Amino acid sequence: MLHKVRIYSRFERLWHWSQAALIISMGATGFEIHGTYYLLGFERAVEFHTTAAWGLIGLWAFAIFWHLTTGQWQHYIPTREKLLAVTRFYAIDLFRGELHPYERTDHRKLNPLQRLAYLFFKLVMAPMLWITGLCYMFFNNWETWMLAPYLDLGTVATIHLAGAFLITGFLVIHVYMTTLGHSVFEHIRSMITGWEMVEEDKVVQATVQQAKLTEK
Ligand code: HEM
Repeated sequence: MLHKVRIYSRFERLWHWSQAALIISMGATGFEIHGTYYLLGFERAVEFHTTAAWGLIGLWAFAIFWHLTTGQWQHYIPTREKLLAVTRFYAIDLFRGELHPYERTDHRKLNPLQRLAYLFFKLVMAPMLWITGLCYMFFNNWETWMLAPYLDLGTVATIHLAGAFLITGFLVIHVYMTTLGHSVFEHIRSMITGWEMVEEDKVVQATVQQAKLTEK
């Protein structure tokens, strides 16, 4: 029997959608700064990109605090359990109409591939962008802060641009993956409402597993 489970908290949904809006608008202004096209004009694009950057840095700081204080960071611990089955599902079984091998619950929200992808996002892509972005932003202070001998503007720009390409690729794959639920909008709907329908026996199994973990 299907059971309604709350997968995403209010803060998580707010953080997710504001992060999405900021990253999309920063991609749009960033590639204009790079010279890919003309939309707002260079000056306004830089102004928007810089303001949004502070918004994104603030949001990431809040999200890190939230993950640490609520224990939600544990959802990102990599696991090999069902990793091959989930990879095989997306590569082959999905196109044969088979069911997803991983039934998620509020205790195990992320399948093994999602854990790896989101961990890569948090530990590699995001730091690549904010560290080089801040170096870029404070270029005029490099001399005063005695950073000039260690930093090179060309390298900073290349790494920032590589991060922008990586995050854009991530976004495209991420949006495609969200459409692969029981229905096209199932996962998007749960990120809006917070709720998802899951098999009841899976909820019970996960609750028992969680209780065992807590006892340890
Ligand atoms: C907190 C994170 C970020 C900070 C602090 C930041 C900051 C900056 C700064 C200061 C610049 C140079 C503007 C100028 O020329 O005056 C820049 C350029 C750029 N940013 Fe960001 N940014 C961040 C996130 C992002 C994100 C998320 C994306 C893409 C989705 C992105 C894409 C770009 C691109 C493509 C450029 C042009 C690079 C070049 O041609 O050299 N940035 N960013």
